[in-house]
Amino acid sequence: MTGDVVGNVNDDHGPDHESDYDSDQDSRSDAARAARRDEAVRAAVEQGLLGSATPVVGLLDVTGIKESAAALRAAFDAVTAPGTPVLHAFAVKATPLVPVLRLLGEEGIGAEVASPGELALARAAGLPPGRTVLDSPAKTPAELREALALGIAVNADNPQELDRIDGLMRSAPSRSPLGIRVNPQVGGGSIEALSTATATSKFGVALRDEGAREWVVRAYAERPWLTRLHAHTGSQGIPLSLMAEGVAETYGLAEEINRRIGRPQIDTIDIGGGLPVNFMSDATKPTYADYARVLREAVPGLFDGRYGLVTEFGRSLLAKHGTVVARVEYAKSAGGRPVAVTHAGVQVATRTVYAPGAWPLRIAAYDGKGRPKEGPEVVQDVAGPACFAGDLLATGRALPLLEQGDYAAALDTGAYYFAHHYAYNSLARPGIYGFAPDGAGGIAFATVREPQSVEEIVAESGGAHADALTTLRAPGGVDVRRSIR
Ligand SMILES: Cc1ncc(COP(=O)(O)O)c(C=O)c1O
Repeated sequence: MTGDVVGNVNDDHGPDHESDYDSDQDSRSDAARAARRDEAVRAAVEQGLLGSATPVVGLLDVTGIKESAAALRAAFDAVTAPGTPVLHAFAVKATPLVPVLRLLGEEGIGAEVASPGELALARAAGLPPGRTVLDSPAKTPAELREALALGIAVNADNPQELDRIDGLMRSAPSRSPLGIRVNPQVGGGSIEALSTATATSKFGVALRDEGAREWVVRAYAERPWLTRLHAHTGSQGIPLSLMAEGVAETYGLAEEINRRIGRPQIDTIDIGGGLPVNFMSDATKPTYADYARVLREAVPGLFDGRYGLVTEFGRSLLAKHGTVVARVEYAKSAGGRPVAVTHAGVQVATRTVYAPGAWPLRIAAYDGKGRPKEGPEVVQDVAGPACFAGDLLATGRALPLLEQGDYAAALDTGAYYFAHHYAYNSLARPGIYGFAPDGAGGIAFATVREPQSVEEIVAESGGAHADALTTLRAPGGVDVRRSIR
């Protein structure tokens, strides 16, 4: 039984015509995904992945991930001219896990990376440079050099970065497709921290600023190797119409540049990611097909075969396929309100705990055997294990009463949640397991990430340098602690 969240800021990205989103097939696959999740929780308890010794895990639905990848490909295939090159590059930041990147790679999805670590993950997953895109606002010379040497696509964020690329291109030719990221400044959505197209966003060249558009046109005119144009107008909380407006502005700029240069120098438009996720229920809405239709109506020229396309979806590919499941260690009451103290809190759901209004999560209740819990709903708090009062997954939520030994599951947490560990209280990173049917009516699990051990926590917290500060001396044997007084 799931305690659904009521009215929140994620609501307002909704479609103009709700019924567009509700095809029978979509709702059947949403229901099947919810059923698979229940089966997986039960199997995780039965198979001992989850229990008193391992009271919190992350579960990933392999079937669902494959379905989302297929839906993404089909949605753009349906609107693009035959033969149009389309690269769907998964935004690694959403779920930075090598096995996930490998799975997506097998499903025809590349990687959008935004740090040396993310690039290393994509490479460890075996993703080829031709299916990798580097976009970060703070690329160092070394990162740029590596990307250009590998032939990875790079979108320059700003004029200073383009200067650096100029230098590298002069010193060694590269087969990297290169572009500039622009900010079409079409406005933000309901979550300020995720609005990348506001007037003052830190990303890309702010197109409506004085002189900026002319600078961009000149930059392309002077560099025949600049062949791509990039914008990302997401993410969560942005209405589809605004995302489409951002893409339309970017397309309009590509058209202008090619016209003024007098040849189709820009051959690929990278439209970014940002499709919002519905955290309110199991329904997948909006769908990729909805977005592709909105885009084709708003920007028909983008799909007529003159431009290749790159997309960079993150959250919408993974969110609905991940579940954090945590054991209720204690059930108590405070001020007349029941409180379930679980092992999932700020360490696995950081955004929700610190900004619950913007990032509410649905909670599902399971009994001690991992079966959906039945019974009358009781308004209760679902707390995490961290030592601060605000460490709550849900406040005042109506759910079957959670009791000691039950399990609480935080739903839709496959992107930007349990893979983004926050080490408050030195709480361990939980193990993450992928699940799929075992072919004999049961569920098989595969380890995606081992749980972090206490020894690893000590090692990662300076365990090898225990006396580093107590033995620190200035040259000449002066005790630093005394000399800085
Ligand atoms: C450049 C870029 N592309 C893609 C994404 C992925 O966005 P989402 O996970 O909302 O699809 C982000 C998210 O921050 C981004 O900055």
